[in-house]
Amino acid sequence: MAAAQTTSARANPSNWPQASSPAVLTGPRTEARVRELMATMTVEEKVGQLIQADIGSIVPSDLQRYPVGSILAGGSSGPGGQDKAPAAAWLALANNFQAAATSRTGSQIPLLIGIDAVHGHTNIPGATVFPHNIGLGAAGDPELVEAIAGATAQEVAATGFNWTFAPTLAVPRDDRWGRTYEGFSEDPELQRRLAGPYVLGLQGPLRDGEGLAPGHVMGSAKHFLADGGTLDGRDRGDAPVSERELIDIHLSGYPQAIDAGVLSIMVSFSGWNGVKHTGNRSLLTDVLRGPLGFDGLVIGDWDAHAFVPGCRPDSCAAAVNAGVDMFMAANSWKALYDNTLAQVKAGQISTPRLDEAVARILRVKLASGAFEPQPLAGNFTRLGAPEHRALAREAVRQSLVLLKNDGGVLPLKPGARVLVAGSAADDIATAAGGWTFSWQGTGNTNADFPGGQSIWSGLDEALRASGGRAELSPDGAFTQRPDAAVVVFGEAPYAEFYGDLDTLDFAPVEGLELLRSLKAQGIPTIAVFLSGRPLWVNPEINAADAFVAAWLPGSEGGGVADVLVAGADGRARHDFSGRLSFSWPRTAGQTPQNRGDAGYDPLFPFGFGLTYRDRVGAPALSEDPEAPEASGPPRLFASGRFVAPWSLTLQDERGSFRVEQPGRASSPAGRLTVEPVDGAAQESARRFQFVGAGGVIAIGGPPTDLGGDFDLTFRYRIDAPAAGPVRLLLGNAAVYIGELLTSSDWDLASIPLSCFVGVDRSRISTVKIAAPAGLSLSIEDARLTPSQGAACPVQTGPNDGR
Ligand code: BGC
Ligand code: BGC
Repeated sequence: MAAAQTTSARANPSNWPQASSPAVLTGPRTEARVRELMATMTVEEKVGQLIQADIGSIVPSDLQRYPVGSILAGGSSGPGGQDKAPAAAWLALANNFQAAATSRTGSQIPLLIGIDAVHGHTNIPGATVFPHNIGLGAAGDPELVEAIAGATAQEVAATGFNWTFAPTLAVPRDDRWGRTYEGFSEDPELQRRLAGPYVLGLQGPLRDGEGLAPGHVMGSAKHFLADGGTLDGRDRGDAPVSERELIDIHLSGYPQAIDAGVLSIMVSFSGWNGVKHTGNRSLLTDVLRGPLGFDGLVIGDWDAHAFVPGCRPDSCAAAVNAGVDMFMAANSWKALYDNTLAQVKAGQISTPRLDEAVARILRVKLASGAFEPQPLAGNFTRLGAPEHRALAREAVRQSLVLLKNDGGVLPLKPGARVLVAGSAADDIATAAGGWTFSWQGTGNTNADFPGGQSIWSGLDEALRASGGRAELSPDGAFTQRPDAAVVVFGEAPYAEFYGDLDTLDFAPVEGLELLRSLKAQGIPTIAVFLSGRPLWVNPEINAADAFVAAWLPGSEGGGVADVLVAGADGRARHDFSGRLSFSWPRTAGQTPQNRGDAGYDPLFPFGFGLTYRDRVGAPALSEDPEAPEASGPPRLFASGRFVAPWSLTLQDERGSFRVEQPGRASSPAGRLTVEPVDGAAQESARRFQFVGAGGVIAIGGPPTDLGGDFDLTFRYRIDAPAAGPVRLLLGNAAVYIGELLTSSDWDLASIPLSCFVGVDRSRISTVKIAAPAGLSLSIEDARLTPSQGAACPVQTGPNDGR
């Protein structure tokens, strides 16, 4: 399939939107300084600026012979080979390298020192570990993101580093991708809203002729471009998409990041229509330096140049010629330096191109403040500062998405005795995920997170404060019968391609077995699911009375208890506010599946998230991972759409209008109108307004057998009451439902189908609501549910009240 792809990988710059780095980045003072510095540099020194070496393979004394421009600490690199070296060792490392760079004869040029502070400065023990971006997407709060980026910048600055490889602006389209959690959302709208604040939080505004304000560090928007668009979600793969899709979906928040002044952009390992981005001049130069107006530095990814045709880890003129200004080199940096120098001397890289790259690097060094002392360096009180932890805890609260809360099992009542089960309950490492101390986030224990709090510990604290108590029991055994059980389980940490999956089936059984066994003992169960993406967990959802998607919340597990545990007065202290920024799959193979796709039919749509005001029971879900449809009684309206074969028609005395689109519509004489409104998710509901007499909502389809012992259940809200009787009709039988529909908040109404007497329920082709003028009724969901045997409303004739 991919091989048959004939679309080109050449972008047409005139199709791309405009953006521009702030003018101060190229202000006259800065540019004069750049020229001054370059005038004194040898070609060796210039080439050196293009090289970034990993600290795992360079020592400060190397700088005497190799004048590299930058170093990084890769995911698994630490001072002296120690992943978990203390902050002072990181600062000493940075200082030693910086001293070596600036004391070399004739050089005053400092290093850029980079690290992946992608969810806090998480290589350093004691740092605040914020939720990964997927959780920040669920929170969807630009101010929160800016504050988190600001706190992270301070923690990075405290260790003498001046560059973080963040934010990730990927738009992950196939959740099997192992980096899904590094992205905010499957939909670029959130990236557009969060990219600018993230950059401003890290860098502050650029300043004319001087570096970033104290406590700020340079960011790097990554990975340009369409890293989240690869076929089958393969990490470092190829995105076989049109230029239009590249612009509409994957350009994501780059224009906003550039406008906000992001000083660097990292190129993606992946490719577009068979061409690796690292060698794609049309994107890196024609587009990025053209309409996107980017004046900062373009850095390659970790040895990614090796994948450009004709290149090796230690040699790649093609990348420089395509527009990469600085190579990120793992171990091969020495030979890469030698070969790049030779390529310049041989004219394979032109002098103007070399000078252009060096000028950008120096400009960014000036603008980032690398030339000036960082006042926060050595201020280790910034690491895990109480206000940073409070911020992380707030982010955890805001990121939680409630998917189910049967019978109001949440919030946990004051005084409750709660069992906390699952091996992840007291394990901050699982909550932190990848890019934590080590690249993969594996090999960490709670002792590595001084000052952090596990989810268990937060629950314990909150329950005790409410007069109850918690018991930690990883295997679910208990001595005293609990009132409820919280089961914490999820994905083990991973990063990059190690996290790629073939299907979305969540395989580990520990959580499921715990939930089932506790439920079988009659104990109400609450699932807290830790994951880097939505996964197919129908069996777990069935076995849980309440289900919370908690993503990868990080070191402040207390934020979970803030929402789950009620205060002493019995009321929730914080409500759920997180909304899905990724669609939740109905089957394990349902991928890619993203908001706006044709045939979109997720289990929980983009934007979904319950609150404590919602009273929603979840139907039993199919436990067959391949089942295309949840088995069970039919749904008429769900996830913002009428479910085929059912469709909506608006009727009045002048006839019928069939509504094909979710937009605004009205019946032929204008007696009845419909429009989309927000329910549990954005535009997941429809509001019907009976503006005149005689309007009828008709949900129709081919004759369908509705003969079982079911209720017709719908989620509704009354926005304005009717001035007379409201009737529900099943075929020719009708009942009055006005008395049932009383709530002005979202609520459920159920009418047993057996109440419709005298109609052949084996062949029903319409369900109607007829009402007089005045009624404004919003409906979010309509489906058949196993009958609860409620009393029947009063029966009436089909044509009464007309
Ligand atoms: C990743 C980047 C990261 C870099 C440095 C690469 O493998 O793709 O996101 O910034 O390593 O650790
Ligand atoms: C490094 C990471 C890098 C990865 C890429 C690891 O060894 O520590 O920073 O992203 O390799 O392959």
